[in-house]
Amino acid sequence: LGRSVVDELGRRGHEARVLARHAPQFRIDLSTGAGLKVALDGCEVVIDASNDASQAAGQTLIVGTERLLAAEAAAGVRHHVCISVVGCERIALRYFRLKLAQERLVEAGPTPWSIVRSTQFHEFVSAGLSSATRWGLLPVPRATVQSVAVSEVARVVASIAEAAPLHRCVLIAGPEQTELIDLARTWKASTGHHAFMFPISLPGSAGRALRAGALTVEAPDVVGSKSFHTWLTSETDHDHT
Ligand SMILES: NC(=O)c1ccc[n+]([C@@H]2O[C@H](COP(=O)([O-])OP(=O)(O)OC[C@H]3O[C@@H](n4cnc5c(N)ncnc54)[C@H](OP(=O)(O)O)[C@@H]3O)[C@@H](O)[C@H]2O)c1
Repeated sequence: LGRSVVDELGRRGHEARVLARHAPQFRIDLSTGAGLKVALDGCEVVIDASNDASQAAGQTLIVGTERLLAAEAAAGVRHHVCISVVGCERIALRYFRLKLAQERLVEAGPTPWSIVRSTQFHEFVSAGLSSATRWGLLPVPRATVQSVAVSEVARVVASIAEAAPLHRCVLIAGPEQTELIDLARTWKASTGHHAFMFPISLPGSAGRALRAGALTVEAPDVVGSKSFHTWLTSETDHDHT
């Protein structure tokens, strides 16, 4: 997402800095705080599109957010835009709990804020299906999803970053609610993958929540226009694998 947001901001004539561990110029590490002071010097708005789903996620998403907000306050940043996930309050998995805790830190933090909650990106679904395919098998969790193109989320994020802090959460979702297995069928047909696909039920309350549509939203503030199928079959925007 961060890369698309930077492209979008550039098209709109803004000067956008990329802050990441492997950034060409402003190398920072949220898990240690290294580089933050120099990188934030002169910045008006921070869009936090960092992510970490590893075992060390707490260090990046929580401690990293505390560090980032403190550094923003010192640098005089006037708007912090936090990217989060639709339904993170409804799913009892560690990653989603951390995202919710990250939102709370932003809401209570010193920098005026906006939160953008998105559903899963088409890019994430496609990459996830590709990496789940092993030895000709493709296990697909039973889940209802409402995926959205990253380029459409990036435009919303850029517009929010340009405006005054909202002090509320904006929801963006794709145009259709579908079963993940149906997206997997579409993905197989479009990419020519021949893997044998089979549904799996994730255990516990998290599995039930995913099946019941906890990752979807009935009335989002913004609805993306590109379905997964349209995105997969469009010629630009992405890599089909
Ligand atoms: N993926 C989805 O479907 C989805 C759906 C809804 C919401 N979101 C939210 O959207 C945001 C971005 O997700 P994404 O999928 O675009 O993430 P991503 O592709 O995994 O990118 C994460 C970025 O974070 C940087 N990063 C990771 N650890 C860091 C650290 N310790 N210090 C500084 N930078 C670090 C990475 O760069 P380096 O490795 O160079 O540091 C990378 O540029 C997240 O808040 C996520 O919760 C994602």
